[in-house]
Amino acid sequence: MKRIGFITSGGDCQSLNATMRGVAKTLYNNIKDVEIYGILEGYKGLIYGNYKLLKPKDFSGILTLGGTIIGTSRQPFKLMTVPDENGLDKIEAMKDTYKKLKLDCLVILGGNGTHKTANLLSKEGLNVVTCPKTIDNDIWGTDITFGFQSAVDIATNALDCIHTTAASHGRVFIVEIMGHKVGWMTLHAGIAGGADVILLPEIPYDLKKVVSAIKKRTKEGKRFSIVAVAEGAISKEDAALSKKEYKAKYPVGESQPVAYRLGAEITKKTGQEVRVTVPGHTQRGGSPDAYDRFISTRLGAAAARLILEEKYGYMVGFSGNDIVPVPLEEVAGKLKGIPKDCQIVKEAKAMGICFGD
Ligand code: F6P
Repeated sequence: MKRIGFITSGGDCQSLNATMRGVAKTLYNNIKDVEIYGILEGYKGLIYGNYKLLKPKDFSGILTLGGTIIGTSRQPFKLMTVPDENGLDKIEAMKDTYKKLKLDCLVILGGNGTHKTANLLSKEGLNVVTCPKTIDNDIWGTDITFGFQSAVDIATNALDCIHTTAASHGRVFIVEIMGHKVGWMTLHAGIAGGADVILLPEIPYDLKKVVSAIKKRTKEGKRFSIVAVAEGAISKEDAALSKKEYKAKYPVGESQPVAYRLGAEITKKTGQEVRVTVPGHTQRGGSPDAYDRFISTRLGAAAARLILEEKYGYMVGFSGNDIVPVPLEEVAGKLKGIPKDCQIVKEAKAMGICFGD
């Protein structure tokens, strides 16, 4: 008999359900007696003891269903060690729920913040296995995260749609793609969607370079230009500011997103008509694509395999085509950004795509 708790935590993505289905089916198929509890709304459910017993039928028909059947929430890691408004010790509360449910293991699906808390719970003595979820593809220890490809497909579709209208009107279009800290989505969708300029958080841009790339296209007779910009793209000038100076220049909640600031500058400097499009959270919505269903199912089965082997304290990650267990303490607190010598960037530059550097 095994009792397992499922948690989906942090920003959602398209194939959370597909991953849980992969874990559940493998467990039901290999253990005679297994009970799976859905911990509701991420770590919040573990803190406040909100959960429900899931049955095999709950995992039927969810391979293609976006979102998460057990809900999610953002519970910042830095607040985990801070008592709640009623003085509740969150870590102790999470351990209590685990004990009360007599769990053998928690299967946690989440991104970077989620992994820090998962590692903390593992260090506190809970059995934990995790799966790498995020549209940002920025989890250290895995070549790919589930959710990434489906989100890239949506961002690429947005660029495709913008292409036709941009070409008709002869406009410059800025398309803002998700990714505050890393630019994997913008890089992949930008290339797949034929963007002329790609701006990433990892490569601070020089506005003059962006403007001259657009002017060059106009000179060559191209009536439109497409700029794919990551949410977290930053100019060279702003990258040189200290954290304090940056916060003073762009107060949280008061300053415009980078795409709009860039749009205004490009209008001023080129005289061309500029429009901004932000697909936003549509990038996390809808059904997972075939590739995400495939890797989610594999990751789910691999996570279940670790439970069968009673091998805890690991994330299942992709190394090439193989799935390997990666110790949580190695994953927690690291970010997988676009490296300086990234081959994809070099290829894109070689074919004339401007990165603003
Ligand atoms: O981490 C996934 C992500 O979609 C990022 O790309 C984006 O910056 C952020 O979450 C948005 O967060 P929220 O859903 O809390 O607005």
